[in-house]
Formats: sequence, C-alpha cells, structure tokens
Amino acid sequence: MAEHDFDVLILGSGAAGLSAALTLAPNLKVAVLAKGAISAGSTAWAQGGIAAVLEPGDTFESHVEDTIVAGAGLNRRESVEFVVGNAPAAIERLAKLGVPFDSGEEARWHLTREGGHSHRRIVHVADATGWAVQQALEAAAAAHPNIRLIPDMVAIDLITGRHAVSLSGEKRVHGVYALDREGGGVTAFTGRATILATGGASRAWLYSTNPKGSTGDGIAMAWRAGCRVSNMEFNQFHPTCLYNHDVKNFLITEAMRGEGGRLKIPTTGRRFMKRFDPREELAPRDIVARAIDHELKRLGLDYVHLDISHREPEFIRAHFPTIAARLAEPDIGIDITKEPIPVVPAAHYTCGGVVVDLDGRTDLPGLYAAGEVTQSGLHGANRLASNSVLECLVFGVAAAEHINASWSDLPPAPAIRPWDESRVTDSDEEVVVHHNWREIRRFMWDYVGIVRTTKRLERALNRINLLRQETHDYYRHFRVSADLVELRNLVEVAELIVRSALARKESRGLHYTLDYPETLPEAVDTVLVP
Ligand code: FAD
Ligand code: SIN
Repeated sequence: MAEHDFDVLILGSGAAGLSAALTLAPNLKVAVLAKGAISAGSTAWAQGGIAAVLEPGDTFESHVEDTIVAGAGLNRRESVEFVVGNAPAAIERLAKLGVPFDSGEEARWHLTREGGHSHRRIVHVADATGWAVQQALEAAAAAHPNIRLIPDMVAIDLITGRHAVSLSGEKRVHGVYALDREGGGVTAFTGRATILATGGASRAWLYSTNPKGSTGDGIAMAWRAGCRVSNMEFNQFHPTCLYNHDVKNFLITEAMRGEGGRLKIPTTGRRFMKRFDPREELAPRDIVARAIDHELKRLGLDYVHLDISHREPEFIRAHFPTIAARLAEPDIGIDITKEPIPVVPAAHYTCGGVVVDLDGRTDLPGLYAAGEVTQSGLHGANRLASNSVLECLVFGVAAAEHINASWSDLPPAPAIRPWDESRVTDSDEEVVVHHNWREIRRFMWDYVGIVRTTKRLERALNRINLLRQETHDYYRHFRVSADLVELRNLVEVAELIVRSALARKESRGLHYTLDYPETLPEAVDTVLVP
C-alpha cells in the first residue's frame, strides 16, 4: 500500500471529475487531484451553457439528430442516445446543487440557441455558465467528508503491475505517480479504481481558447499505459476567439451568434456566411471556422468582425454581461453595444481521446475515464455546441456508478515501488523545455490547423520525431518538473493527432484536407493501438 491510499482516485477536478466524486462519496473515500488550482480547468471557463431537451416541442430525437449531423455521422448512436436521454436529469442535479440557471419569461429556464441546434435548448447562467457549475460542484465536494480535494498535484504516469514491488506484467491500473508542485517530490497515490478526468489538449496549438493546463496529460498517460486512443484528428476550432495582441484565449460565446450576432468583413461591413451555408452564422462550428479561415486567407485579413450592436443595449448587457464588461476594460476598450468585436478561430475542444464504453471503462482494468479526455462516441467528427459539459456530467456519474456496482470485484492495490530519482539531476537547461513547448504549438498551428495537406502533416511529423527524442533524453536525465510533464505529454498527443490525421484519407467534420476533399460513404473511427 502506498503512502496515499484511497478507495478511488480521480485525476481532474472539472465537471467530469467532480460529478464522479459526488456519486462515489456516499460509500467510498475519494481523492481528487488537480495539477493547479481546483477550479483552473476548462469547466470554469465554459460560457454558452449546457444542452438538454427541456421544453415541449423539442424532442430527444431532435437533439440526437442534431448531434449526429454536426458529428458528420461518425458518432456512436448508442452513446448519443445515452447522453441526450440523461441530460434533463443532469441539469436537475445541478439545479439542486444551486446552479442559478437564468429563468425564462414563461418557462422555468431561459433556453438559448447555438450553431447546429434546431431548437433553443441551452440552459445557461448568463455568459458564465461554467463558473457557476464549477463553484456548485466544488462547494458540494469540499463539504463532503469522504472527498479530499488535492490541488497542485501533477499526475505523471499511471501505476500498473510493472510498478509493483513484486513486479508483474499485469495491466491493471492501481493509481498514479504525481509531482507535488508546492512541496516538491513525487508520490504514489493508489486506489482500487482510477478515473481520468483530465480534460483536453487544445493547448497543443498556438492560439487556443483553453486554460494553460489543456495539454492532453490524461490521453498521453493512458496511451503510455496501453489504452487505445481514437479520433484525435478531430480537434475543434471555435470560430470566435477575441483577436487581441495582449489579451489571449478570450472566447466570445457562440450564444452571441445564437442571439443574432453577425459575422462581417471588417473592411466592407458585409456579411459572408450565406456563401458557405444556408444556416449562415448558426451553421455547425467546423463550417463557420472554415468559412472565416477562408475569408482571412482570401482577403489577407487578420480577423473578421462579430457584431451584435444591432440589438438593444439592455438585451446585450443582460445576456452577455461578462463579455461586455471584459471588453469594455481599458486594455481592450470595445463597447459591444455599439461596436463590432474582432475575432479569429482558435483551438477549442478535443473530440478524440481515450476509448471508453458507456460505463466509462477504458481498455485497462481499474481505469475509467470521463469528459473531454475521452472518445465516448458522443461527438463524432465535430462536437455540437454545449454537448461537452453535458458529456462530463453524464459520464462522470456513469463511471462512478459502475465502480459502486462492481466495488467488491476490485482488488486493493499491491505494494508499489517509490518513484526513483537516483539517476537524475537538477536541470541545467530549462530553456529546452520552454523552447520546445513554443515550437510544438507553432508548427501545430501552421501545419495541423483548420485546413490540412499531407505534406504539411508530414512536415509536422518530422519535427515531432526530433522533439520526441530530445524530450525523452531530457526526461531521462533531469528531475521532473510540471512544465516537463506537460511538454512530454504535448509531444505525445501531437504525434497522436498527426498520425490520426495522416490515417484519414477523406475530409469529414473537423478534419479537412486539400488532398482528400471528399467524404467517404462509410464513417469509420480512427483507432490507434499502442
Ligand atoms: P476540465 O474542466 O478541463 O478539467 C481538467 C482537470 O484535470 C483540471 O482539474 C486539471 O487540473 C486536471 N488535470 C489535467 N492534467 C492533470 C495532471 N497531469 N495531473 C492532475 N490533474 C490534471 N462546453 C460546453 O458544453 N458548453 C460551453 O458553454 C462551453 N464553453 C467553453 C468555453 C471555453 C472558453 C472553453 C475553453 C471550453 C468550453 N466548453 C464548453 C468545453 C467544456 O468547458 C470542456 O470540454 C469541459 O468543461 C471539460 O471538462 P473536464 O471535466 O473534462 O475537464
Ligand atoms: C460557447 O459558449 O461558444 C462555447 C460553447 C461550447 O464550446 O460548447
């Protein structure tokens, strides 16, 4: 038994991890590890809301169909039906925890609309839904005596039979080695089950809407331990990230287009979406992002405009208070009730990930996964807006329920060898880590972006091979740091993304390549096997 032994370990404290923790806690002792502050994941940054069928006139079938149309037919129907069917109950749980969803004029809640949805079905807390969700889940978890929230603990690698004192080739996962950012040192955390809820990998690109920690750590750890990883070529670029040299990563919610926001060419003030899709600004994200990218390249622009100023100022301030206030600050200085917002697409969401079934089980016994780290079959080739927090809520609970139900079959962790630092020294060249971080994000942006070619992907792969070697050498010789953990994982996921993109000989959903512009008749997942 390791120094830190719990019933269940959860890596990640966003919507997926905390939903799982709250479902396990009535019976089991749970540790939730986060690599920074507990609320520092993407969940707290979610703006638009959470999709669910909540009013008469809308149907589960319609939500399912919209999800599959956006996903370009690659979705697993049973996963889509599972998530859509469980959505209303998930929203009700959040409401019970105190999430103050905006109320409607006649209905219980105000439902907004986003691209690809054929009905208004997004519950929200103005334009800062994620913050309210994170606070409610976190408060409930912090108050529970069986849940221990552990910030600043960076998971490095999963523990399997090969880390046991009595070494075995068994692939069962017993926990994780993690670096204590504050206190220093690496410790083994063990449990009968481990849930990966580590979020996505969108920081692999230079421009991203995501917080700093979205470096695909869970995907890389699961891959190294022996899990299949699927559909990594489908990374979603959100069409409307604020374009500003100093303020990076600020999303302008899709709900702004849902409430009438128009995309325009800055030099002429002309709208352009009609030329790309009859749904115009409310087409699915892949189409809108590609249209903007096309116009930027065609006209040599740095950005396009998103304009909501034709709506009443009171309406704008009521629906988008956070965005209006942030953009009005002196460092940006835009009054969105009067002026358009300069926007560009940016890497936003990882549709692919660790393969899981409907119980959140991965390929390895003892290892579960939920949320953005997974490929659950929900999103297919392109995620429908506001289906992501929903996936976290539903699969976090599903994984926990499976653990609860199979608890008596899960063996306790064996004695685990401590982390061995006897062959490493302190780094004398931190610059390598920072340089390589920047380099990856730059070439991923230039060569593995919204429009791809085989040549560009091969260029990226050559660079990845070089960086992999360098990072591997560095990792073997120097004491591990949080930045090094992230770099090692970024190299790993960049390779998974590029290999998946090269394997797909068609354009589908978010993966668009000039070399194979057609969509093949049959939709098939890309599955990489370690
Ligand atoms: P996260 O909330 O990202 O949490 C990841 C957790 O894993 C963190 O606690 C982190 O510390 C931890 N972690 C990561 N690596 C390690 C490690 N090595 N060791 C220990 N811990 C680790 N989706 C919607 O459905 N609706 C929206 O309106 C919406 N808006 C969005 C707006 C923005 C700006 C962004 C960035 C995303 C948005 N999304 C939205 C997507 C959605 O927020 C995320 O997909 C979802 O919240 C992911 O939740 P998660 O629990 O899987 O991971
Ligand atoms: C947004 O508010 O535009 C983000 C919604 C999402 O990513 O689902």
